[in-house]
Amino acid sequence: MDRLKSSARLMIVSDLDHTMVDHHDPENLSILRFNALWEAKYRHDSLLVFSTGRSPTLYKQLRKEKPMLTPDITIMSVGTEITYGNDMVPDEGWVNVLNNKWDKSIVTEETSKIPELTLQSETEQRPHKVSFYVKKEKAQEVMKNLSEILVKRGLDVKIIYSGGMDLDILPQGAGKGQALAYLHKKLTAEGKLPQNTLACGDSGNDAELFTIPDVHGVMVKNAQEELLQWYAENAKNNPKIIHADETCAAGIIQAIGHFKLGPNTSPRDVPNLLDAKLDQIDPAYEVVKFYLFLEKWQRAEIEDPERFINNLKSICSPSGAYVSPFGVEVSLHDVIAKLKDSYGDKKGKQYRIWVDQVFSSQIDSDTWLVKFKKWEQTGEAQQCCFTTAILSSKVVKQSQGLTWVHVHQTWFNGSTPSEDKSWFL
Ligand code: GLC
Ligand code: MG
Repeated sequence: MDRLKSSARLMIVSDLDHTMVDHHDPENLSILRFNALWEAKYRHDSLLVFSTGRSPTLYKQLRKEKPMLTPDITIMSVGTEITYGNDMVPDEGWVNVLNNKWDKSIVTEETSKIPELTLQSETEQRPHKVSFYVKKEKAQEVMKNLSEILVKRGLDVKIIYSGGMDLDILPQGAGKGQALAYLHKKLTAEGKLPQNTLACGDSGNDAELFTIPDVHGVMVKNAQEELLQWYAENAKNNPKIIHADETCAAGIIQAIGHFKLGPNTSPRDVPNLLDAKLDQIDPAYEVVKFYLFLEKWQRAEIEDPERFINNLKSICSPSGAYVSPFGVEVSLHDVIAKLKDSYGDKKGKQYRIWVDQVFSSQIDSDTWLVKFKKWEQTGEAQQCCFTTAILSSKVVKQSQGLTWVHVHQTWFNGSTPSEDKSWFL
């Protein structure tokens, strides 16, 4: 959170399964649209928060399966674990809050007497979360009985039903909503309460996100019955909460537009991106655009390949160099020449590129240093390169925008080369 010197322009707090992540779309189109929008327009001055029911184990697993950005803050295990940054440093203060009137052993003891409850996997049992499966038709009755028993045992707990199958027992002060309130309080103390917060969800454990003051909320189109029922009973007349008519991350983009929280056109949705002219120099947008082109090139989705190659040449400096993650240096124009031979080499392969954590800084009157992670996924396999690029706004030939002067890549975090290529980008 220290990255921002003042209030975030927008803080998005999003659930993952069936909200940010669409498990029914193998092409992952809506999350990829969101990613491009976030990196081009929001990353530099806004905060991305993922708030999931998953434990750290299952959260990390999801990251390997889906094209996910790296959030600034990760809230896991239904608001019982808050971590910061890439290293996922835990918030110890939050753990202390949760210890109030909580005794996991009593919860375990009492729940073991209820035959309708089936324990979830070991990874999902956390210090402040005990989780079960329970059939829909039994859920209400079980929750009522259980809560009476636990009150009698001196505990103050919260029981949440999600997805028409999951039952979580947490300390009363826990949950996704309380975790968000805690973050807001912390940010306010630093004088950095976000200008706007947008909460996004689809199931029961997301409901309380929408009860936090001054939060805009979107229930994605595919929201679960229990969330829609909560909305009908508790929030129907609240104009700050909408039920989107788009599913998953497309619903989040829709809400950004609906509440006028900032730009809501993803670079992935711009027709004719090759000809699109920006009003101002925008290195982050340039990076997003460039890698979108590379993806389209390898997927054989470029309308006029010759014009495309000429355009690439015009935005890469003739004296520019590329240092590949294999440690080989080649000229940028040689890379483009090689690209020419690889048109459509990922055609029909569910191949995607997305850039993550794009940060640019101006290092001279006409020069920018941009750092980002470049991810690519073919089917199930992901790899990632830390990338540093130098971009210049000096007018080169006919091009008026930014020129790529230098690109340097390093393998990130255990990524291993899938095939030996001396060029890559
Ligand atoms: C995730 C968690 C599970 C929890 C559910 C609902 O699926 O893995 O433990 O019950 O979210 O919160
Ligand atoms: Mg969900």
